[in-house]
Amino acid sequence: MPAETKNKIAVYPGTFDPITFGHIDVIRRGQKIFDKVIVAVLENSRKTCLFSVDVRIDLIRKSLPGIEVESFSGLLVDFLKRKNALFVIRGLRAVSDFDYEFQMAIANKSLAPETETVFVMTDKEHFYLNSTLVKELAKNRAALKDLVPEPVEQALRKKFD
Ligand code: PNS
Repeated sequence: MPAETKNKIAVYPGTFDPITFGHIDVIRRGQKIFDKVIVAVLENSRKTCLFSVDVRIDLIRKSLPGIEVESFSGLLVDFLKRKNALFVIRGLRAVSDFDYEFQMAIANKSLAPETETVFVMTDKEHFYLNSTLVKELAKNRAALKDLVPEPVEQALRKKFD
């Protein structure tokens, strides 16, 4: 099949603990490039998560109705194979993201040479935004407006009530 008529499926992987407007911006950019974007939530993260994988998935669905989202454990490249996806989407914010992202992209490429990692730039409004910062703000009862969708804000408020 010629490449241009192939269904271009991309996976956007992450911990999403919780999803922020920065992630949503990356997903929307990805949807403009690919035929389908699947959000893949890492289940067995080395990070200690505030929200269970089921809650993280539920918050993504509530924030982006209609989005395809699944959990995965083990290697990302194995998830890509199961989904017939050839592309990984990652967002790039500051230069400080680069080392980690470069390492992951190289690792995935050597494990599955047929795949490509595509980086999209994060919107300037979300340059500084990440899930860790959001949790820190929520813990200290700071404003979360403009950082996370409403269902996420509610879930964070409940956690730190
Ligand atoms: O946005 P995050 O939380 O930094 O996402 C990290 C993630 C989930 C993309 C990464 O940890 C991952 O892909 N883990 C699965 C294990 C894997 O495939 N490792 C080899 C490539 S580094």
